Amino acid sequence: MRLTAEQLAQYERDGFVVLPDLFTPDEVASMKGELARIQAIDTDHLVRERSGGVAKTIYRVHEADGPTASPIFHAAARSPRLLPPARQLLGDEALYVYHTKCNLKTAIDGSVWQWHQDYGTWRNDGVPEADPMSTALLMLDEPTEANGCLYFIPGSHKVGLVEPEFDDRTTSYKLWVVPKQRLVEIMEKSPEPVPIVGRPGTVVFFHPLILHASGHNLSRFDRWQVYFVYNRVSNRPIDVPSPRPDYVRSTNWAPLRIGSDDLLATMGEASHA
Ligand code: SIN
Ligand code: MN
Repeated sequence: MRLTAEQLAQYERDGFVVLPDLFTPDEVASMKGELARIQAIDTDHLVRERSGGVAKTIYRVHEADGPTASPIFHAAARSPRLLPPARQLLGDEALYVYHTKCNLKTAIDGSVWQWHQDYGTWRNDGVPEADPMSTALLMLDEPTEANGCLYFIPGSHKVGLVEPEFDDRTTSYKLWVVPKQRLVEIMEKSPEPVPIVGRPGTVVFFHPLILHASGHNLSRFDRWQVYFVYNRVSNRPIDVPSPRPDYVRSTNWAPLRIGSDDLLATMGEASHA
């Protein structure tokens, strides 16, 4: 799969590009089955909501080993549907997965992500530059405004990095967020935030400097999403004191090779192995 010149221009202008229905209902069902299995596992690769103890985030589903490994996510990260577009957006063949995270914003319990830029955290991980990174968001449910879809401020990736502050109070997940004063200033000069809604199977590539946030899940429906973060091998982090664990700041920077597009077959092989 290749992005058109128009899609590349959209990403450059808005900081994101939406690719509807990239994965099939059967693939999405299989991925959801995997996350239902993994969320029961007791591991530090999984963060739980403050209320209820349900899984908020599951990391590192894309590798072949580890407690949260899953063959279908391993295949998806390397699939012809995600890897070639990531290569186009980053202008380089040699990419690796910086991390994967699955945000299970569960009905009623699923909680807020305050306004932030992802590179505000990744800079602290030692990543030299923002532009050589891009995230593919994959919708596993239908995100809506009521169930806590993501919001983007279009074009905000062009503001550059806004010096973040550390929010360790709002939710169970500590996050480097955009300070309120700066946020309001940027919002006054920007288009209104857009809700990132769509059918399950839809993918949205977005820039690591785009301002984004999502609210609490007030609905009775889950809002599960998976994020595949790609980085150029040449942009891998420099050494930092006390680096974050491998499941958020991967040290597997071997260049990814394009794999099979038959994701369901990969699952079949695993279950018969
Ligand atoms: C994030 O921005 O990292 C996650 C937000 C969400 O899943 O709603
Ligand atoms: Mn984010």
